[in-house]
Amino acid sequence: MSVVYENIGELVTNDPEQGDGSALGILHDAALVTSGGRVLWVGPQACAPDADRRVDVEGACVIPGFVDSHAHLVFAGDRSAEFAARMSGEEYDGGGIATTVAATRAADDSVLADNVDRLAAELHRGGVTTFETKSGYGLAIEHEVRSLRIARQFTPETTFLGAHVVPAEHRGDRDGYVRLVAGDMLAACAPHARWIDVFCDRGAFDIDETRFILEAGAQAGLLPRLHAGQLAHGGGVRLAVELRAASVDHCTHTSDLDVQALAAASDTTVATLLPGAEFSTRAPWPDGRRLIDAGVVVALATDCNPGSSYTSSMAFCIALAVRDMRLTPAEAVWAATAGGAKALRRDDIGGLSPGKRADFVQLAAPSHIHLAYRPGVPLVRDVVKDGRSCRCEPHRV
Ligand code: NIG
Ligand code: FE
Repeated sequence: MSVVYENIGELVTNDPEQGDGSALGILHDAALVTSGGRVLWVGPQACAPDADRRVDVEGACVIPGFVDSHAHLVFAGDRSAEFAARMSGEEYDGGGIATTVAATRAADDSVLADNVDRLAAELHRGGVTTFETKSGYGLAIEHEVRSLRIARQFTPETTFLGAHVVPAEHRGDRDGYVRLVAGDMLAACAPHARWIDVFCDRGAFDIDETRFILEAGAQAGLLPRLHAGQLAHGGGVRLAVELRAASVDHCTHTSDLDVQALAAASDTTVATLLPGAEFSTRAPWPDGRRLIDAGVVVALATDCNPGSSYTSSMAFCIALAVRDMRLTPAEAVWAATAGGAKALRRDDIGGLSPGKRADFVQLAAPSHIHLAYRPGVPLVRDVVKDGRSCRCEPHRV
């Protein structure tokens, strides 16, 4: 069955061939036709073809569904006290990961699955139509495998993060843990994952360990991505470029050489900025403007996790990126949609041109700018995923 969405006040296609020629490919007074879960046609309202069903969006802005390319949803337990302590002056150093590992290991599968279900519903209500999620709070073979098996029930974008930190029982034997991650743990996890990730940072894994684990992952058929430059500057960004990783995430601390390397690798490696983490750890803001001006491809993601960034709101991340990382509203919306799609190496999502998946969001607002202009306001009015709608709130534009 085909559906025509009519009276779109502003349609963001992310296709520069459409409309105003900008990266957002904006059409005004537009219509969009879907069929079989895909976009069939976009163009001016006056030329809209007929369809089996008509939906009048009454002048709303329609944007591609958000692509959250970095989240850690498989966990149990609560770390709100750690957050409160940070807001009273404690520093974030990743030490709290051990708290979540203990709670996750102690939880039944059903508790972990219910947690992912709850957060996936939050993401969806906030306009996210594709999300990635990682293991990394199990850190033992059986717990990493079950984390990924549960994650796979919710998304095909699953990431093996056995190298999140060295767990307590291996503290005297980090080499043994690195060999376990790159050996038996990887072999058990690879069938349930598309990606492999390492937290390459101060207090986590160094460059040699990261390279060893990611190369083993690639041999097992997993695609590399990295956490790097969150807590301190190191060689992680350049290693990501060297290994042709799809994305290097955080990039809070980057040197000029890192930025140059990322700009030269803009066809392969995206810099994914996670403003929820800087917000929740009171860290310095990465200079998104500097990255974009240098020619780096930037994505925005939530990093939703119980320690450093417990938000599922892409709209909140957009507002922070505009206010504090100096992205324009247009750049931030692109980074949260097309940028996320690039970070996941997906060309079927992240835009609204014919042939793409019919994944889009109707905003209770006349333009994409309102996502940053009205921070904290729930502007998502309807989410369409694979052509199917879930009306979120009966707002008027
Ligand atoms: O991306 N940096 C490493 N991992 C997570 C935080 C994990 C935690 O504190 O539980 C992140 O911010
Ligand atoms: Fe993360």
